[in-house]
Amino acid sequence: MKPIKVGLLGIGTVGAGTFEVLRRNQAEIKRRAGRGIEIVMVADLNTARALQVTGGSCEVVADGNLVVNHPDIDIVIELIGGYGIAKDLVLKAIHNGKHVVTANKALLATHGNAIFQAAQDKGVIVAFEAAVAGGIPIIKALREGLTANRIEWIAGIINGTTNFILSEMRDKGLDFATALAQAQQLGYAEADPTFDIEGIDAAHKATIMSAIAFGIPVQFDKAHVEGITKLQAVDIRYAEELGYRIKLLGITRRAVVNGVEGIELRVHPTLIPAKRLIANVEGAMNAVLVHGDAVGATLYYGKGAGAEPTASAVIADLVDITRLATADPEHRVPHLAFQPNAMTEIAILPMSEITTSYYLRMRVSDRPGVLADVTRILADATISIVAMLQKEPAPGERDTDIIMLTHQTQEKNVEAAIVKIEALSTVIGALTRLRVEELS
Ligand code: NDP
Ligand code: HSE
Repeated sequence: MKPIKVGLLGIGTVGAGTFEVLRRNQAEIKRRAGRGIEIVMVADLNTARALQVTGGSCEVVADGNLVVNHPDIDIVIELIGGYGIAKDLVLKAIHNGKHVVTANKALLATHGNAIFQAAQDKGVIVAFEAAVAGGIPIIKALREGLTANRIEWIAGIINGTTNFILSEMRDKGLDFATALAQAQQLGYAEADPTFDIEGIDAAHKATIMSAIAFGIPVQFDKAHVEGITKLQAVDIRYAEELGYRIKLLGITRRAVVNGVEGIELRVHPTLIPAKRLIANVEGAMNAVLVHGDAVGATLYYGKGAGAEPTASAVIADLVDITRLATADPEHRVPHLAFQPNAMTEIAILPMSEITTSYYLRMRVSDRPGVLADVTRILADATISIVAMLQKEPAPGERDTDIIMLTHQTQEKNVEAAIVKIEALSTVIGALTRLRVEELS
């Protein structure tokens, strides 16, 4: 059988990794796919660099349109990133009847519904294993391996850059900027690293997983997004004293509020008990914990970023498409796991309605009655306390920190209590509120 012909858009970090792994493991991959997989054309703005990577083994062009319009190309791999030219080229490729492989979570989380609809209409596949958790086959696991289950919740460390930064800051005492620069140098960070450090990239991935887990459209605009830029070293230290680690988690979960089913979709720094496996995931590694009603909790761990780990997922999609290209479109695995006519409209819950536990840190004047005032406000809001730390004032100071861990409650109760606590004359400045997940 003739090799399947592939066009590659963008040969930067992941593109070059894909090119190299496909070249290196060509024979093994062919034995698995049943036919050869050959990159015949590469488009990249930097044609000189592209020629260097490809070594003249295929045609190199600057204009991606030449790839998506090429009559001999069966599969287009989009590794440019962003939602500008990438969206345009992906839609053109689909329109031209080509299958698409992409690692572009930003594109799918924001325009996925239109892209999957266009692919459905054309009977082509849009594959995106590399878009979530790099080299970990989490899309395959959610869409196929766990298909018997009603998924209850997913919680994951799904951004390598931020996990790398948090690990380097904790273990090596690096400052934020140095750790970020290293993550960029290692090829983990997005072209705009704000996407990483502000939690946007993790929210893109959580959005895609929520759609596949619950059979809902992708709805990035409804996700709650908080990054690690406001996280303070003192909270990382106090969390450790209380037996917790702080990780940037992407969480999506079924919930029932006032008898109505909804979906939580949120990304924020989260305290996790230090004894959980996921709390010990360090560096650029990713881990995704999925809870299904039949299987219980399953954990997927591996490299979440970088050239070859991501190439591993891109090529897995190439092989899948090569095997399935001739199958009747009706009998392929649906893009978002559920049949397109069986999607539901369960609403994403506003953040005020979510339920979790909280870490509260407040700076107070060390005077009698402070603690009583704070606990009274929490009790009135039906928030009960699990653990508390009160630090000795530093020598010569009268102010000190009080740290509390609460039982589960609704976010709106905590927000209302915080307003009242901050209004106390004995409480200095703003209170720090972080969320806690036991993940048991
Ligand atoms: P890079 O920036 O390293 O690579 C993108 C490449 O596309 C660059 O060579 C760039 O050229 C080229 N490019 C930009 N615009 C065009 C255009 N109009 N036409 C043709 N080529 C163009 O990004 P990555 O490889 O890191 O990321 C690619 C995608 O993979 C993104 O969607 C990213 O989110 C995703 N991803 C990345 C991971 C990683 O670890 N890096 C992991 C998982 C997913 P130039 O440099 O000249 O601008
Ligand atoms: N910037 C992303 C990360 C790349 O750091 O996880 C992988 O999606």
